[in-house]
Amino acid sequence: MKNQSEINIGLVGHVDHGKTTLTKALSGVWTDTHSEETKRGISIRLGYADITFRKCPQCEAPMCYTTAEICERCGTETELLRKVSFVDAPGHETLMATMLSGAALMDGAILVIAANEPCPQPQTKEHLMALDVIGVKDVIVVQNKIDIVSKERALESYREIKEFVKGTCAEDAPIIPVSAQQGANIDILIETIEERIKTPKRDVDKPARMYVARSFDINKPGADPEHLAGGVIGGSLVQGRLRVGDEIEIRPGIQVKKDGKQTWMSLHSTITGLVAGGEEMEEVGPGGLVGVGTLLDPALTKADSLSGSVAGEPGTLPPVRHSFTMETHLLERVVGTKEETKVEPIKTGEPLMINVGTTTTVGVVKSARADDADVVLKLPACAEEGQRIALSRRVGARWRLIGYGIIK
Ligand code: GTP
Repeated sequence: MKNQSEINIGLVGHVDHGKTTLTKALSGVWTDTHSEETKRGISIRLGYADITFRKCPQCEAPMCYTTAEICERCGTETELLRKVSFVDAPGHETLMATMLSGAALMDGAILVIAANEPCPQPQTKEHLMALDVIGVKDVIVVQNKIDIVSKERALESYREIKEFVKGTCAEDAPIIPVSAQQGANIDILIETIEERIKTPKRDVDKPARMYVARSFDINKPGADPEHLAGGVIGGSLVQGRLRVGDEIEIRPGIQVKKDGKQTWMSLHSTITGLVAGGEEMEEVGPGGLVGVGTLLDPALTKADSLSGSVAGEPGTLPPVRHSFTMETHLLERVVGTKEETKVEPIKTGEPLMINVGTTTTVGVVKSARADDADVVLKLPACAEEGQRIALSRRVGARWRLIGYGIIK
């Protein structure tokens, strides 16, 4: 599986702090690929880029770290270190749900903080809290836009960052000053990623489990029916392998009417093709984002209709839950807003936004107790007992992260 990335690293941080520019500096690829995103200039859906880290055998560290095949300093052919998939999560506050579903795919994360603004900005805080809540432990802080601040401001920003990360999962995270726009210190960043964010051990022998983040209809309008390609799902495997020709089940699947009642039916199909790192593969495993071609009617997969589902070997997936009891762990304060209010206990009857894996759903609290609550989901989720879920509450016009739950 040499073309496949080994690991997913998230890029998180406040809007406009430079996540997309950093991805480009690392790879030469723009993650903003949707025309609407280009128009609005913000990353709306999760973008991603596969990047190969390399090392020049002749040059000294950190200058030897690069993504170029030929060393730009000495002309020597560089050696492959690791393929890494970067998941670029949107920084706009209205897009927290997308950020949270992206966090489910992250093995580690880079928190981008612009040095020219006081730290923390609301979504800097909200994203770091989200990493904490979801349990992403390996974090590196990039202090970006170092080219437009004075030395004094750079040092002050460093102190602000140090103070801000105290008591969080990023407390001991390295802080790397970078100019994503000028490509400065990218080599040190690559060196730090190699040292600090190791590829996790994966269970490739367990049945495949894929979190679906996107789904597509890849056919052009007016395509000849004889040559229509089946539906495609995109996402990441957390365990196991998928091979071309394998049977696949996707849960919760689609909503259907049965005996006059709405119910959910899982989808079954055959894998017709696999893509990872931009290349066709016979087999894929965990790490990186993969595309899976199926024989499904593309109408079922178009426009991300299956994002949030779980896919794998038929009969091996977690149950589809329409309701569950969860243990609740609340934050002290609501983050993400300028004024941080106290998090009130969960109340019976209130709706909560629930992120479980890559699924975003709303759960209405049927019964709230001191340390747990029963919720009924508007859209079902395929989820395991013991799975960690992010909880957000409506505060004003927005969903705000208030803590996490564990499915009982
Ligand atoms: P969202 O994805 O919408 O949350 O934004 P983002 O964090 O991806 O920010 P983006 O990369 O789009 O950068 C925002 C603006 O900052 C752009 O105009 C960039 O050119 C600029 N920018 C990014 N990095 C740097 C940097 O290192 N120095 C300077 N001077 N400008 C930068």
